[in-house]
Amino acid sequence: MKTYRSQEWFGRKDKSGFIARSWLKNQGLPNDAFDGRPVIGICNTWSELTPCNAHLRDLADNVKNGVLEAGGIAFEFPVMSLGEALMKPTTMLYRNLASMDVEESIRANPIDGVVILANCDKTTPACLMGAASVDLPTLVVSGGPMLNGKHQGRDIGSGTDLWKFSEDLRAGLISQSMFDEAENGMSRSPGACNTMGTASTLACMVEALGMSLPGSAAIPAVDASRRRAARLSGRRIVGMVQEDLRMSRILTREAFENAIIVNAAIGGSTNFILHLLAIAGRIEVPLTLDDFDLLSQNIPLLANLKPSGEYLMEDFYYAGGVPAVISQLRDKLHDKVMQCNGKTLSANYADAAIFNQRIIAPAEHAFIKDAGTIVLRGNLCADGAVIKPSAATPALLNHKARAVVFENIEEYNQRINDPDLDVTADDILVLKGAGPKGYPGMPEVGNFGLPLKLLQQGVRDMIRISDGRMSGTAFGTIVLHVSPESCVGGTLALVQNGDLIELNCHERRLTLHVSDNELARRRESWRPVMPDYPRGYASLYIQSVEQAHTGADLNFLPGKSGSHIKREPHPE
Ligand code: FES
Repeated sequence: MKTYRSQEWFGRKDKSGFIARSWLKNQGLPNDAFDGRPVIGICNTWSELTPCNAHLRDLADNVKNGVLEAGGIAFEFPVMSLGEALMKPTTMLYRNLASMDVEESIRANPIDGVVILANCDKTTPACLMGAASVDLPTLVVSGGPMLNGKHQGRDIGSGTDLWKFSEDLRAGLISQSMFDEAENGMSRSPGACNTMGTASTLACMVEALGMSLPGSAAIPAVDASRRRAARLSGRRIVGMVQEDLRMSRILTREAFENAIIVNAAIGGSTNFILHLLAIAGRIEVPLTLDDFDLLSQNIPLLANLKPSGEYLMEDFYYAGGVPAVISQLRDKLHDKVMQCNGKTLSANYADAAIFNQRIIAPAEHAFIKDAGTIVLRGNLCADGAVIKPSAATPALLNHKARAVVFENIEEYNQRINDPDLDVTADDILVLKGAGPKGYPGMPEVGNFGLPLKLLQQGVRDMIRISDGRMSGTAFGTIVLHVSPESCVGGTLALVQNGDLIELNCHERRLTLHVSDNELARRRESWRPVMPDYPRGYASLYIQSVEQAHTGADLNFLPGKSGSHIKREPHPE
């Protein structure tokens, strides 16, 4: 029989072995629990403060049953959970912290393989980043999306319809009571946002990477199939340990390329870029912002899902989900890559089919021919910026206009409803101070609302530019992740009211039409405005966080340390 890592704890006849076994026996474990069988850690981001993950204890029980059925033994352990709907100033501030919790919890314990239970936006990348730095056999079970929201006889989507209701309320088009009513219909069941927001995007990413069982990404949270998938994942992780199928054998450069292509075809969240870059950094696969641009080109939009389209994740699942999308991309994907079930992508998706072409289009009838995320370059974003054209107004994708500038979110909040604000629908709105260091944490403020007086005139979209992110559920002609951010002296810091800015998605350019001499003059008088966090994790974060174009990890975290531990807690 193979000797697993956990035997370094349980396989000893000395004092240390006594301690490891004896204390665990207080949970009713018999002697044979320690006889050398694979030990699986169930890394659970369950929390009642993360509503999208509040059902994960139930899924953990299903994973546990699967592990036992396959001859392993499972220990569930909690890690920091990140609830998008509640945490301030932004969960992104804590993604890297949670990833450290995951990494150290896995490495420090007698674990041979890991099942990650994640769902709400940052919980998935945090777990993958941390686990990648340990590189044990690992499999992900996502929690699944909520059922479709319902309001006054029609489907409403998490986030996407909230942004609409909110702007309609500001414009006086709907009443406060209608707004309140929608609150009761939006979140009808356990699960994550039911749009193709960041959580669902990342569940699809995990499946496209080969890190979760084929076909599992879109199963609604409350569908019995999700419990079955959890149980089967529990069985499978035992096999992965026996085969030593580590993360680094699945997360190859080809797997990352597959994920980028699938993301373009489903109209996934722009947050995908930051998280995939950070995961690649941990597992030591070279990946750059330009890879996203290059690989997304000529990828058709095949999913008609909010915020880019009309339907919701429940519909997506019934229409065939990720397998149906992959079935249409076969000639573009690396189909020989090994996935977590030990089979190749081509074997896993050989029988996939589309069941509803209003929701998932065949490649030859794509909803948009070329819809992938565009990476912009230019003097306003020397290290890049991104825009999601499928969620934008086509007429604004190539547009030159004067800038209306907000120096920070406080100034924006103060001025945006001012009837005297000097702004027209043709202008470009610029928000500074929303980057990784500057906020801190790079919040989802990039889809900041339009000036009240324009909303009242019926304007519903304008170009908005910032160094922040936007919710995966959001829409609009929104340029995000401007790098370097304003707080560290990126050109964004130098933009002034009335400057001319040109967005040219056709040529992938974002240009500030101000001369180099004038920019140099402005730079001389520019002083950094760092947020005031004198101590604690936020202080460490501000000192160490990298810029958006490399994934905004902390500068001491990229790479792997493996699973080896150098020292024991007790003397021999
Ligand atoms: Fe948790 Fe959207 S708020 S997935």
